[in-house]
Amino acid sequence: MEKLKIAGGYPLKGTVRISGAKNSAVALIPATILAESPVTIEGLPDISDVHILKDLLQEIGGPATFSDNEMTVDPSSMISMPLPNGKVKKLRASYYLMGAMLGRFKKAVIGLPGGCHLGPRPIDQHIKGFEALGAKVTNEQGAIYLRADELRGARIYLDVVSVGATINIMLAAVRAKGQTIIENAAKEPEIIDVATLLSNMGAKIKGAGTDVIRIDGVDKLHGCRHTIIPDRIEAGTYMILAAAVGQGILIDNVIPLHLESLIAKLKEMGVHVETKDDQVFVGPTEHYKSVDIKTLVYPGFPTDLQQPFTSLLTKAEGSSVVTDTIYGARFKHIDELRRMNANIKVEGRSAIINGPIQLQGAKVKASDLRAGAALVIAGLIAEGVTEITGLEHIDRGYSHLIEKLNGLGATAWREKMTKEEMEQMKNA
Ligand code: EPU
Repeated sequence: MEKLKIAGGYPLKGTVRISGAKNSAVALIPATILAESPVTIEGLPDISDVHILKDLLQEIGGPATFSDNEMTVDPSSMISMPLPNGKVKKLRASYYLMGAMLGRFKKAVIGLPGGCHLGPRPIDQHIKGFEALGAKVTNEQGAIYLRADELRGARIYLDVVSVGATINIMLAAVRAKGQTIIENAAKEPEIIDVATLLSNMGAKIKGAGTDVIRIDGVDKLHGCRHTIIPDRIEAGTYMILAAAVGQGILIDNVIPLHLESLIAKLKEMGVHVETKDDQVFVGPTEHYKSVDIKTLVYPGFPTDLQQPFTSLLTKAEGSSVVTDTIYGARFKHIDELRRMNANIKVEGRSAIINGPIQLQGAKVKASDLRAGAALVIAGLIAEGVTEITGLEHIDRGYSHLIEKLNGLGATAWREKMTKEEMEQMKNA
């Protein structure tokens, strides 16, 4: 096991290139199951979630290669092998195997997903969708069993706007008989990306990116080549980092439209942000104003950026309030930021940040992926050295983090944890 060390307090400068979107990748890779000839996806991020999904596809009989950020999967000989345990439990997005395997084989057994601990994360809307399409769904000893004689298109109204349920229902519906209509669908860019791949495979989908998606089922899908969209959350993380400690940072390979809510909030704080075609430049900032943030579904402020943004807000003059309406318990990073001298109170679904405060380096633990990103930014802001454990969370979502940070002039490195440190972590 390793820890990440950051010597903070130094200004960063330069250009950072953003990788492909994790939250697209984890759906695009399972989507390849639906085709009957090889699919190639370009620009995938080099993160542990991608490697785990590749292994899972191989387990069900689909040879897959991954090099230079490009994955090719041959789904022609895949079978509906039950995956109740093992790697499937390591990532939450393994739930996309349910929709994809149900769509292709009309049956699947998938262990209930793991992933980040952000409070309760039910999948009732996914199951409601599968049942509406004609599947029988049962939960037996921590695994979801899905089976259908045939899948028939249906009109499905989502009670909660859910990215995962929208994509999962699309995956199952593209090979169902007849038309499926998803109402109150999520509108995140990753949904459009998955719909684009499926359409290139021969699926008939209209309305992805709006709240009503219409899918006309087809009998078969074929292979294709697809380029993934850039990761708006990774881009947002580097924009926040640039606002906090940058002396002029260019973020390359971004779709600025995907980050309008963040850009608006950075500008409101007094940060200089300029957008170009596929780049965002964040200039140096002298004085940071406090702002309030409320996370919302896309195009609102993304929940995945509220934790990193909180670290930046420790530099702002006055009181800022961050409210998470998506995951009311996504505040595990706050105790760690407090260890670093932050003045933050949590009240219900809100964190109240009082600043400006000079953060100090400390030993902290990432409890989930974006908490990890928040601690990395805090470590760069802080005086002294910050030691971050829980790197397995950060490795799930940030491709080549240390190389990218050090490329901007940071001093960050990984070190092996001692036996005593690992013992202490287990007992914590
Ligand atoms: N929800 C339900 N029932 C469901 C599904 C969701 O009540 O069946 C609730 C959730 O509890 C949550 C809200 O609906 O309160 C939204 O959840 P959603 O289903 O949209 O989240 P998700 O698909 O599980 C994806 C991202 C998350 C991101 C959320 C919200 C992936 C793999 N994950 O999760 O990303 O926070 O959308 O935008 O796409 C991350 O990248 O760090 C991350 C956690």
